[in-house]
Amino acid sequence: MALVEFNKETCIKCGICAAICSAGIIYYKKDHYPRLLPGAAEICLRCGHCVGVCPTDSITHQELPLERCPPIDKKLKVSFKQVSQLIKSRRSIREFQDKPVPIEVIERIIETARYAPTGHNNQEVRWLIVNDRKKMKELADVGADWMRWTVKNVPGMAEMLVDPIKRLDAGYDVFLRHAPALVVAYAEKGNPIAATDCAIALGYFDLAANTLGLGCCWAGFFYFAAGSFPAMIETVALPEGMNCYGALMLGYPKYKYQRIPPRKPARIIYRA
Ligand SMILES: Cc1cc2nc3c(=O)[nH]c(=O)nc-3n(C[C@H](O)[C@H](O)[C@H](O)COP(=O)(O)O)c2cc1C
Repeated sequence: MALVEFNKETCIKCGICAAICSAGIIYYKKDHYPRLLPGAAEICLRCGHCVGVCPTDSITHQELPLERCPPIDKKLKVSFKQVSQLIKSRRSIREFQDKPVPIEVIERIIETARYAPTGHNNQEVRWLIVNDRKKMKELADVGADWMRWTVKNVPGMAEMLVDPIKRLDAGYDVFLRHAPALVVAYAEKGNPIAATDCAIALGYFDLAANTLGLGCCWAGFFYFAAGSFPAMIETVALPEGMNCYGALMLGYPKYKYQRIPPRKPARIIYRA
């Protein structure tokens, strides 16, 4: 059986499947049925565009069966205004309620965020969830060690850490902001597109989390430490060969924002 088959009883020969195929493995000539080119199985990205775009459900992809491709619910279409407010009103949350985040809620958000695009549809983003107060404290303590070590040993970062370390000394967890949970996106070391894929996935996660009343903050300090500080690498304990490409602190925000602070205007250049 071919990887992709076209149902000649229902196909209307519109050729859209061939037009959108990113790998160019569907051949189409006007008024003819589309067909798969030789070697397609090796080249196919498994992106499912052909199945998703066909107006008559005439495509069977062996690895992406129709039952795994739910119809798009037109009633759920969101407006630009809604998306714009969601993006603009999202804040980096640094004060959290003392309330755990149910693991099912985190999983539900990941279930959406995993649909974020990945280079060549590689879908190699993996997730680590830390959702335990004791483990969060352990990470924060190692993070504090990293900050104290860095301020003494990494000239480029010392300046940035002087003030945070004063707050650390005063008992405030400037590293993980006393967040109840942390979500880490990781992937194989050496995957050249992984940093971008993970950042996009976490960005989607952040927005989706906001719609469920949660708030996130990018854990930049954690990211640095998880990539270079042996004690942190050991504490995070990612599977062999994997690298942390980004992380979000997560929890229920303690305070509600009432307004959207301004940002620099977009700096755009045009090639008209
Ligand atoms: C890559 C990245 C790393 C960040 N790291 C931290 C961090 O370690 N701690 C923190 O409190 N905020 C961190 N932030 C949050 C920024 O300070 C924040 O996005 C910025 O001040 C703008 O605020 P807003 O996100 O509410 O618009 C980080 C943001 C990004 C994008």
